[in-house]
Amino acid sequence: MSASTSIRPDLLRDRNFIGGIWCAGREDAWLEVVDPATGAVIGRVPDSGAVDADEAVKAASEALPSWRATTARHRAQLLKRWHARMLSSAEDLAKIISLEQGKPLAEALGEVAYGASYVEWFAEEAVRAYGDIIPAAAEGRRMMVVKEPLGVVAAITPWNFPLAMLARKVAPALAAGCTVIAKPAEDTPLTALAMMRLAEEAGLPAGTVNLVTASRGNAAVTVGAWLADPRVRKITFTGSTAVGKGLARGSAETLKKLSLELGGNAPFIVFDDADVCAAVDGLMRAKFRNGGQTCVSPNRVYVHDAVYDEFSRQLAARVAALHVGPASLAESEIGPMINSRAVEKIDRHVRDAIVRGATVLTGGLRLRDQIASGPNYYAPTVLGEANEQMTLASEETFGPVVALFRFHSEEDVVRRANDTPFGLAAYFYSRDVSRIWRVSGRLETGIVGINEGAFASEAAPFGGIKESGYGREGSRYGLEEYLATKYLCQGSLA
Ligand code: SIN
Repeated sequence: MSASTSIRPDLLRDRNFIGGIWCAGREDAWLEVVDPATGAVIGRVPDSGAVDADEAVKAASEALPSWRATTARHRAQLLKRWHARMLSSAEDLAKIISLEQGKPLAEALGEVAYGASYVEWFAEEAVRAYGDIIPAAAEGRRMMVVKEPLGVVAAITPWNFPLAMLARKVAPALAAGCTVIAKPAEDTPLTALAMMRLAEEAGLPAGTVNLVTASRGNAAVTVGAWLADPRVRKITFTGSTAVGKGLARGSAETLKKLSLELGGNAPFIVFDDADVCAAVDGLMRAKFRNGGQTCVSPNRVYVHDAVYDEFSRQLAARVAALHVGPASLAESEIGPMINSRAVEKIDRHVRDAIVRGATVLTGGLRLRDQIASGPNYYAPTVLGEANEQMTLASEETFGPVVALFRFHSEEDVVRRANDTPFGLAAYFYSRDVSRIWRVSGRLETGIVGINEGAFASEAAPFGGIKESGYGREGSRYGLEEYLATKYLCQGSLA
């Protein structure tokens, strides 16, 4: 790990974390972790199988009775210690994120702060998992509702925010009194392992949080073992809709509770009464975060005909000025895409759009030779005159590509914005108060950004509707996902 020599060595782990012990996979199979910019191998971790997955469940099940019996205050204190360690190790964590995921260092530091904010939030929420006293429906009774931890939770996390997505699943689960088994994405296991080291250091008891790493090939085996296991009571997953549907099918036999944060195809609408500069700013923040590799990234940008020329001119100038380069360079604003498959998909979308009539306002090509460190860079791109026949209108591009669609009426644009199986996030810019309430009510998504391009926050419920999944992360709603509601009815009272 030459590029990683400045990272605190004990944060760079190459073992699973099960029952408080760092252990190799039972089958002694290994998965290489690569720098997405160069393809260079930066580490190796276990390519775990069913036995490792089962050992993780066993450890989490054994830890459950004592963990759920702790006070909420105690759990909160341990989470606060984890949070403090994340902040004091922020630079090291950010370097690991940059190394294996490719986002520029400043952005990776932002991800650490973002992820840590969920840990702090759920430490604070732990002590507020209130139940209810219900006015008795019959004489001589007491009717009460208590909240109890669901049990063992399996957290399956994506590569695009390897720290923040783990934090916002593990923290509420632990706060609620659940124990956790986790599997990070194949591309980014090192960040998750570093988080386990910090959890260990914070004093989380052995078995409360466990983590196994696995390749894409073995993910089906490890996760398959969890799906079939009745001791696992909940699956929380961020990733593609196809995989989310597979998890829903696979867990049907044991009827697990699911939280699924899946794909999106976010519309971003600029009405003719919008503040155009603010809308360009908002789009830059929403679209180019993590190089466009974000599930709430605007995928279809609808611009009213009256402001289309002004908006596209301002936007193209801003996008052309973005600096693309390795995560390690201070001036880089967009790093490499996660792997060659991702770059190929982006390029396929752009080529298809051009063939179907899009105009390239800036970018529109792979930066294969322009950047010495590797082939996985894509030029930040703006395409004009997009239409619904283009693949990028119906599929998430997951890269630094903005497609501009013209529209003429509110009725038409709301219909087009909703014309997708997905429903995660939508954005719109308008200064008309009546329109703001009307359109936010009609958009079929779990999140709406109104004159705002960056809405994510630990204090807000994040999640979608339709084929973008169900369940919420963050806020008080995020804690509910890990709690069972138990009704107690005491009778025969005088
Ligand atoms: C995601 O892309 O899955 C989450 C992004 C966010 O938290 O804003």
